[in-house]
Amino acid sequence: MPSKVRRVGVLTSGGDCPGLNAVIRAITKTLEPQGVEVYGILEGFTGLIEDRYIRLDDATTSGLLTVGGTILKTSRNKPHKWPMPDGTTKDMTSEAVRHYQKLGLDCLICLGGGGTQKNAHRLMREGGINVITAPKTIDNDVWGTDICFGFDTGMSIATEALDRLHTTASSHHRVMVVDIMGHNSGWLALGSGIAGGADVILIPEIPYTMEIVAESLLARMQRGKRFSIVAMAEGAMTQDQARRQEDLNKKKKKGKLAEEHAKEPVGAILAEHLEDAIGLETRVTSLGYLQRGGIPTPTDRLLCTKYGTRAAELALQGIFGVMVAKRGQEYIPVSLEDVVGKKRLVPLDHQWVRTAREVGTCMGDEVHKGW
Ligand code: F6P
Repeated sequence: MPSKVRRVGVLTSGGDCPGLNAVIRAITKTLEPQGVEVYGILEGFTGLIEDRYIRLDDATTSGLLTVGGTILKTSRNKPHKWPMPDGTTKDMTSEAVRHYQKLGLDCLICLGGGGTQKNAHRLMREGGINVITAPKTIDNDVWGTDICFGFDTGMSIATEALDRLHTTASSHHRVMVVDIMGHNSGWLALGSGIAGGADVILIPEIPYTMEIVAESLLARMQRGKRFSIVAMAEGAMTQDQARRQEDLNKKKKKGKLAEEHAKEPVGAILAEHLEDAIGLETRVTSLGYLQRGGIPTPTDRLLCTKYGTRAAELALQGIFGVMVAKRGQEYIPVSLEDVVGKKRLVPLDHQWVRTAREVGTCMGDEVHKGW
């Protein structure tokens, strides 16, 4: 039966990452031959509120597979909390719906992380818009899928950085503390830390103490190793901070500790402690936005192409209100209802955590005196 869908919008929202363009390309390449017109909404949900878009077709998406960033640009704006010049916010959901209808869209495909899933779900629930989403983020923390696109590239970049820091750490007998992104999850630091042979990996899911980290590095020194690499997730917390965070959570004051973190990068405090405690020069490297830039890895290109074609197929089939999720070898629709409000953190018994411990990596919660 021919599809009833005639016009589909695509937007990219939240932090950018490598692979967004590859998904946009795959969506367009799947829909255009079916006679469906594809429109790119500019700057995330901002373009929907401000009625700004471009036509996507074979010509505009040609050559996009390897291009980093997003040709549609992005923003973190939310339709229901639109920033006003006087500092207040306004609910602009009706404006978003009006422009969706004006453009004659039958469906809006939203590419983004946890926040985007929430915004898309809200637009569906409160505005009656047909939405489909795909999970994007180098943090890999969107619930419901085995992997988010962008993660593999972020992990590759962080791993290469750790490789490079190894040689300079070794030449100078230094400790290198490396700040790695990931928001409140440790996937990026854990994956790149194992792949890059970090001696200590600190992730938010496993609170650490500075004393345990220092003791592990001292034990390493006693075994004749005069340099060390510490891979530290931006959301990593000391056991004391974790307790305070728990108290804040109970009082529903979420995010307060994260603000503290933002003011004082976690790596710098740990580095100071380690230099005093073990007497080796210590340096901090913050990988920052490098992890989100440039071309996607082959794994991400494959993943993005599949996410894009599957999202387009669901649009053609009229299956809305879902996120495309990778489960094993399958790409399945998962209800947005089930996805929103949850985070995919690293399980404490995850095989990566066990593997790291098996090869003698200190995870900050116990001293490893092994090899
Ligand atoms: O979600 C991706 C991410 O890069 C996180 O790892 C990081 O905490 C955050 O975005 C940075 O946000 P912004 O781009 O707003 O500075």
